[in-house]
Amino acid sequence: MTEPQPAPHLDPVIAALIELHRGLDRQGPGDEAVSRRILAQLPPLPPQPTIADLGCGTGASAVLLADWFKTTVRAVDFASDFLIEAAQRAEQRGLQNQIQWIEADFGALDWLPGELDLLWSEGAAYNLTFAGALAAWKPLLKPGGLAVISELSWFTEDIPAPAEAYWQQAYPAMASEADNIQTALSQGFEVLGVERLPAEAWWQNYYPPLKAKMQLLGNSPDPVMQAVIQDTEAEIDLFERHSDAYGYSVYLLRRL
Ligand SMILES: C[S@@+](CC[C@H](N)C(=O)[O-])C[C@H]1O[C@@H](n2cnc3c(N)ncnc32)[C@H](O)[C@@H]1O
Repeated sequence: MTEPQPAPHLDPVIAALIELHRGLDRQGPGDEAVSRRILAQLPPLPPQPTIADLGCGTGASAVLLADWFKTTVRAVDFASDFLIEAAQRAEQRGLQNQIQWIEADFGALDWLPGELDLLWSEGAAYNLTFAGALAAWKPLLKPGGLAVISELSWFTEDIPAPAEAYWQQAYPAMASEADNIQTALSQGFEVLGVERLPAEAWWQNYYPPLKAKMQLLGNSPDPVMQAVIQDTEAEIDLFERHSDAYGYSVYLLRRL
């Protein structure tokens, strides 16, 4: 097992984001019931499948995958603080021997090509853009291997101006579901399905603990932390007003 190492020198904004999300069950919107529903509808995997969770954060989905498939999961994140918490979580669930925690950049994994039967990634692909993530991750999959990737997506063509303005700055590559499906097809994937994460999942599982942490760090003297908190407040405010227009969609893909 690869032991988590001390954090390398990180960009100050990334470091502040990690600090803000440390101690939370999730570092992004997600929902175990939705994940279980997706797992239940996946085509069967071979016995003892090779599985990876990329951008695992504090381990919500890695633990679920290990428990669901009763096999080893490679869980990758570049934030050692998250991996330490994730390892503790796995231990509490008695799954410590089933998860290999790997501190690495998921955009530059030196794994052998075609090793994975299932690649899972929640709320993390945007760091490479959806197209960039598919390009970087496709070679890791066996032909016929499955990818389950959640991606912030537009739900409408009639995008409200404040949402457009905010995401144009925060994530200019954000695309509609139709465009993401097209991207997946053009990169050699079959699209088995697209499932939207309901807005309630953001409000129930992600934003309340995040807001509590924002309050806790609200007096931080660090100007970078203050800026990150302000931006997160703007993000929450925007989602409150425009969750009909965008959210996370989970793309169920098969490598051709
Ligand atoms: C929004 S969080 C989602 C975490 C977790 N999947 C969840 O849903 O709770 C994105 C995660 O991706 C990780 N991450 C971002 N860029 C990365 C990279 N290039 N290599 C490895 N991990 C990365 C972050 O550290 C963070 O844990």
